[in-house]
Amino acid sequence: MMKKFLMLVMMMLTACAMLLAGCGGDKKEAAEKVLRVGTEPSFAPFEFQKEGSKEFTGFDIDLIRAIGKQMGYKVEVQNMGFDALIPALNAGNIDVAIAGMSITDERKKVVEFSDPYYTSGLIIMVNKDNNDIKSLKDLEGKRIACQIGTTGEKKSRSIPGAQVTAFNTQSEASLELKNGGADAVINDAPVVAYYLQQGGSESAKTVGEKMEAEDYGIAVKKDNAKLAAEINKAMAELKKNGEFDKIYKTWFGEDK
Ligand code: ARG
Repeated sequence: MMKKFLMLVMMMLTACAMLLAGCGGDKKEAAEKVLRVGTEPSFAPFEFQKEGSKEFTGFDIDLIRAIGKQMGYKVEVQNMGFDALIPALNAGNIDVAIAGMSITDERKKVVEFSDPYYTSGLIIMVNKDNNDIKSLKDLEGKRIACQIGTTGEKKSRSIPGAQVTAFNTQSEASLELKNGGADAVINDAPVVAYYLQQGGSESAKTVGEKMEAEDYGIAVKKDNAKLAAEINKAMAELKKNGEFDKIYKTWFGEDK
């Protein structure tokens, strides 16, 4: 009799323990809903690492953190080459890429984009003392530095006779110009503007106007329309509640 009773108690205790463990497990899962974000941080003010720090900062970083929070995800940002972002998405190694990435027809074939969040466009940067280059036409046969896999590289390669060097990072392309290894850089206008403003104007300047408009989008794996829709919903919410404008103002100092 006593034995049976003891066994019953034991069974009940085991059941309780299992239940508790089960609950704990669920909780853990909820807390670990992670959004794996890939970026290429040589693109201030959109994504960069403050000097001497490994931490990511910039407009895109603030935006994706706010979007992730809105969606109930913990955001984890990792650094990779710009040309590695789309393969990483499609291999399932990251969930989203935010990297000042222009929405192009070519990319739309291989990834899904969120709604556009920023309108950009390419511009030419040359050294301050260069007075020969005033437009795209003047770049024919010249040495151009750009970043691998970018729309700037594509534009550079479309110029007849140009000698194009594509670097892993945008910073290296700008340095190449400064060091006299290139005659021009083709890069996104807001990034060039920031670079000049942060001291680059001592040696460089822009020429000509911003080229055709390019819209930035957040990329997710092809056919993951569900995640893109969730991102759009969160972004719309941030636009409505003023958070998007606040982030915009932080980085561009003006109202959207
Ligand atoms: N907007 C250009 C493109 O999509 C350049 C983006 C470069 N981004 C970066 N994080 N380095 O090709």
